[in-house]
Amino acid sequence: MKKFIVANWKCNPTTLNQAKNLFNSIKKGLGAVKNTKVIICPPFVYLEELAKFKRTISLGAQDCYFQEKGAFTGEVSAAMLKDLGCDYVILGHSERRKYFSETNDLINKKLKSALEKGLKPVLCIENTSQIKQCLKGILKQKVIIAYEPIWAIGTGKTPSPAQAKSFNVKIKKLVASNTIVLYGGSVNAKNVEGFIIKSGFDGVLVGGASLKPKELINIVKFVDRI
Ligand code: PGA
Repeated sequence: MKKFIVANWKCNPTTLNQAKNLFNSIKKGLGAVKNTKVIICPPFVYLEELAKFKRTISLGAQDCYFQEKGAFTGEVSAAMLKDLGCDYVILGHSERRKYFSETNDLINKKLKSALEKGLKPVLCIENTSQIKQCLKGILKQKVIIAYEPIWAIGTGKTPSPAQAKSFNVKIKKLVASNTIVLYGGSVNAKNVEGFIIKSGFDGVLVGGASLKPKELINIVKFVDRI
């Protein structure tokens, strides 16, 4: 099975030009990647332009609304993302839960609409109790799960490979045997080995380090060689 690397740019960078430079430096540095699926998730506003250059890199959004269209000021639907060339969408990120009060119930609706429109969702969870509610009525193998301990996001702190492995095992018991399960939270080129080899995750979700082309390229190249 291919390994997955999801790059979550969050609310970065500030200009379209910077986004294009970042994307193209990553693409150039990666060259041909054989065993790894690389998915870059920039802010919504850069998706259309970056879709022109994507080639072997896939594009994902960082959220979507569950209604297809209508009077929902400020929202972007899964249908709109698909139309722009997006194939993935991150849903339920802990920052969406914390700053925008997203609930498991809302995330469940978003997951359903993403799947209906042909987007593969990357569901972020902070603990295993969120899985059941988020995936209510959804085939578990259709969703990628990203386990992100909240205290590890953007802090430089990470669980030990043994701790991360025990979470991976717990999650895998709650999903389908072929569900892809990723680790996220302060991943870098030095610690990625532990999460893949020692903890057995199917890939990683990278935040801060995905804004540094060299670092992301090293992460992908390492994973691609495994
Ligand atoms: P981080 O972010 O790699 O900067 O910790 C991960 C995430 O929030 O998705």
